[in-house]
Amino acid sequence: MRIDIITIFPQVFFGPFAESVIARAVKKNIVEINTVNLRDFTHDKHRSVDDKPYGGGPGMLMKPEPIFEAVESLRTAGSCVILPGPGGEVFTQKTARELTKVNHLIFLCGHYEGIDERVREGLAAREISIGDYVLTNGNLAAMVVVDAVVRLLPGVLGSEESGVTESFSEDLLEYPQYTRPEVFRGMKVPDVLLSGNHGEIEIWRRKQAVEKTKKVRPDLIRPAIKKKTEERD
Ligand code: ADE
Repeated sequence: MRIDIITIFPQVFFGPFAESVIARAVKKNIVEINTVNLRDFTHDKHRSVDDKPYGGGPGMLMKPEPIFEAVESLRTAGSCVILPGPGGEVFTQKTARELTKVNHLIFLCGHYEGIDERVREGLAAREISIGDYVLTNGNLAAMVVVDAVVRLLPGVLGSEESGVTESFSEDLLEYPQYTRPEVFRGMKVPDVLLSGNHGEIEIWRRKQAVEKTKKVRPDLIRPAIKKKTEERD
């Protein structure tokens, strides 16, 4: 997969992508990640990427010209342009899985009060929100999406780290896990996990996952049970 990130702050990506799973995926050539400075596509003395909104109103808007030039210089036959923004579809694990199928992702990180509407229209950008809150710009959101997608690419996680049983892989939150010591500050590892009975452990884990999901994310529980029933029938 190739990922291009158009931003006015390319340097903010260097740290997060230089560590751990993403860095390993880059090293293994599973993904190539490039940051592109939007200001390189401006033609004025001040390298300006924003301007006042027509009709008035507070703040500045990202101008369409440098954005179109940047995207057009990067676009390939199989590319998908993603516009992180609080007004987009909400990003979920399902979206992450879908995006693993795309060969080339181009992230367009907005800043200021917003982006000229012609960017959405003219570049057929898929607007994605990482949650119902407003960030100062799209950079952190792009990092979140890149992280969630790249870790799912084949070969990125080893079998031990593989996400098969983790939260959301079957629409339930993850069951509690424990490592040594058996007793820590008076808190004991549940007996069932020490029993060696894999059937019992499986049942306990599922029950814990359902209980936790009911408590913390009741909105997930109905679809998860419905999905399970449909799979069985
Ligand atoms: N930019 C600002 N807020 C955002 C959000 N919630 N998701 C994605 N991009 C954003």
